[in-house]
Amino acid sequence: MRLKLNLDPKISVIKKRLDGVKRIIAVSGFKGGVGKSSTACVLALLLAQNGKKAGLMDLDFNGTSDEIILGLKKEFPQEIEGLEPPLISGVKFMTAAFFARNKAVNLRGEEITNAILELFAVTRWQNLDFLILDMPPGFSDAALDIIRFIPRAEVIIVSTPSALSQNIIAKAKAALKNFNIKITGSIKNMSPEGINFDGKLEAAYGRPAKLLKTRFAADLKKEIERLSLY
Ligand SMILES: Nc1ncnc2c1ncn2[C@@H]1O[C@H](COP(=O)(O)OP(=O)(O)OP(=O)(O)O)[C@@H](O)[C@H]1O
Ligand SMILES: [Mg+2]
Repeated sequence: MRLKLNLDPKISVIKKRLDGVKRIIAVSGFKGGVGKSSTACVLALLLAQNGKKAGLMDLDFNGTSDEIILGLKKEFPQEIEGLEPPLISGVKFMTAAFFARNKAVNLRGEEITNAILELFAVTRWQNLDFLILDMPPGFSDAALDIIRFIPRAEVIIVSTPSALSQNIIAKAKAALKNFNIKITGSIKNMSPEGINFDGKLEAAYGRPAKLLKTRFAADLKKEIERLSLY
């Protein structure tokens, strides 16, 4: 009961902070290494390139990677009645990496949830067409808490053709249904039925202009059109 009383004010602040955001899309994979972060970053870059107001938030606190994919340099959030995310290649970007530069984020369990809620509560997204959330892998507390505290988030599921990925996806879909979470679509990564394996993807990390010219981006663009996100 005490926990609920403590969290309530934060939740109403978060709701207000997200008032100007039209759609919140959580890129989830429920499994590690399937391409969630690459998809989330390139998705945000493609939406911005297409004239949409796009934001990206890396919620994989224990393993942030979007700052590397986007090639973060000296940008840092500005403090103006909260934290104003810097613009990286047209994408408003927020990550725990801003505050833990070059060190692992050493948080566990409830601490992660609190840190995520804190980041949501202080970030000024203002008006966005899309806020893309790069989700932590699996059904961790953090993943479940995000879904619980941001009830209007929709989910895009990233999977690979591996039987291991497909097995967990089937379970995840059932669980999301239980939580009444909207599944906007699924994207198969490293698959001829979705985003092909792209041997040049790694070399483009850190350079958004180059990332947008990869086969990965071209394939993801088709998926975005299929999911009617443009
Ligand atoms: N379509 C692709 N072609 C080639 N390599 C890919 C592709 N998609 C992802 N990768 C590679 O797979 C690895 C994992 O990708 P990424 O970090 O995006 O996945 P993730 O699901 O976010 O992982 P984690 O669970 O660790 O957060 C990276 O080394 C990336 O370069
Ligand atoms: Mg990731």
